[in-house]
Amino acid sequence: MASKNYKIAVIPGDGTGPEVVSEGVKVLNAVSEKYDFSFDFTYFDFGGERYMKTGEILPDSAIDDFKQFDAIYLGAIGHPDVKPGVLEKGILLKLRFELDQYINLRPVKLYPGVETPLKDKGPEDIDYVVVRENSGGLYTGTGGISMKNTPHEVAVQSMVYNRHQVERCLRFAFEYAQKRNKDKTVGLCGKTNVLTYVYDLWERAFHEIGEKDYPDIRRDYYHVDATCMWMVKNPEWFDVLVTGNMFGDIITDLGAMTQGGMGIAAGGNLNPEGVSMFEPIGGSAPKYTGKGIINPLAAISCTSMMLEYFDEMEASRAVEQSIMNVTGNKLKSMSVGKMGYSTSEVGDLVASGV
Ligand code: IPM
Ligand code: MN
Repeated sequence: MASKNYKIAVIPGDGTGPEVVSEGVKVLNAVSEKYDFSFDFTYFDFGGERYMKTGEILPDSAIDDFKQFDAIYLGAIGHPDVKPGVLEKGILLKLRFELDQYINLRPVKLYPGVETPLKDKGPEDIDYVVVRENSGGLYTGTGGISMKNTPHEVAVQSMVYNRHQVERCLRFAFEYAQKRNKDKTVGLCGKTNVLTYVYDLWERAFHEIGEKDYPDIRRDYYHVDATCMWMVKNPEWFDVLVTGNMFGDIITDLGAMTQGGMGIAAGGNLNPEGVSMFEPIGGSAPKYTGKGIINPLAAISCTSMMLEYFDEMEASRAVEQSIMNVTGNKLKSMSVGKMGYSTSEVGDLVASGV
């Protein structure tokens, strides 16, 4: 029987996106030589350049095209000459929403040899995942502006969640805690003392579902402000942290810094029943474009997440292990230009170690 073939849609995107994505593709090709599967990559040029040339952002037909793939691999979206919001909403958020990638899975893991700003904390202390709800909340709530440019201008943007969105996200978090099999703990990050409607819904659903269907998983609750405090002070408390879209966006930048910065932080926009998209958390870093000095490890980490999502667990761990060997034994720093290697050399190091 022919070995398994995965069809990947690649959107290198803007700025340094193409440079880091090509290192990830290099690693996927290397890993496919060792295991019983192969990849077909199809490239799409959506992003700032195409928008400026043609006016096209992301046509609906592209969404249908993407549905034919096993996964999407995205570099970065964001162009200095395009007004903020246009590409983010028109490409990144459109893909997340239209493909109903309702989970944004963002591991916060400190690899060996990587410097963290957290005093006296090491890899054994910083190893948890944030399950960010990715389809609702402030990102898709209704809103608008009236009486614009008058002294009485009104702006509304509402945080909207329905039980279905909350429930599927919580279930994913509980199941992920079971799968991780670390502390078997899910922490809900909310704001039940102020957002007494939305996070009340979350908290009730959390305990109802947890008690009934996941009795082996411990449940903790943290307000979002306190979550930020504990992420700095006691990150070892966390195993799986689940939260709404906006809080998840904010706390994962904090989490990324504690794991060594944007050069290393990866994420997956998951639709467990559909097409998922893997992207580094960092942006397009336009000022470093083409210099070959950007850190590709976040993008490479995404490939390990992609393999995990395909249930190619051995290959996923091989990529992660190779990354850890590189951070632990090779790179001088995670920072742009200070790695001691070029972008493609870092890709070579990881690829040769899988
Ligand atoms: C992220 C980004 C996006 C978000 C932006 C670019 C729309 O900050 O992936 O975290 O807010 O989700
Ligand atoms: Mn963000």
